[in-house]
Amino acid sequence: MSDAELSGFVRDVPDYPNDGIMFKDITGLLVDPKALSEAVERLAALVPDDVDLVSGMEARGFIVGAALAFRLGVGFVPVRKAGKLPPPTRSLTYGLEYGEATVEIREGTVPAGARVMLVDDVLATGGTAAAGAELLEQLGAEVVGLAFLLELEGLGGRERLAGRSVSTVLLAG
Ligand code: PRP
Repeated sequence: MSDAELSGFVRDVPDYPNDGIMFKDITGLLVDPKALSEAVERLAALVPDDVDLVSGMEARGFIVGAALAFRLGVGFVPVRKAGKLPPPTRSLTYGLEYGEATVEIREGTVPAGARVMLVDDVLATGGTAAAGAELLEQLGAEVVGLAFLLELEGLGGRERLAGRSVSTVLLAG
């Protein structure tokens, strides 16, 4: 499947959820078995050898991340939004354009030194993924790379993740 064909399964929704935001709707890709398989295989090709775990950001990162973990034969660690996981958890609060957000991982799910690949559907400003990677590292993981289905260019995501190994399946302007 070509890049253009795979991109064709992602729907642009202008002004959602807020004015000025171009929402990337991946539900059309998820429901198509060939597109889903292509996306997961392409993500798998971005993962270095010998990863111990895949981790994914709530919520759409769970879908692509869990599929990738299954494909690679490794476990999956969810990075959840605040207040969803029972204790004990480790949290990290990070700044948004307006306000802040908190992400959490259940303590004990990431062994110290584990080589972790962090996955999400979309890289935009990079704030979400940067927080996830930092939290994994606070728990003792080695974040060996970050992989995204879709990178929105021009929003500073690459810069926010400078120094990290970042790879993406598709680019979007
Ligand atoms: C979206 C997307 C990424 C994040 C990217 O999630 O799925 O997780 O935003 O944005 P950033 O690079 O600017 O941080 P959203 O917050 O909409 O959550 P959802 O997956 O639960 O809908």
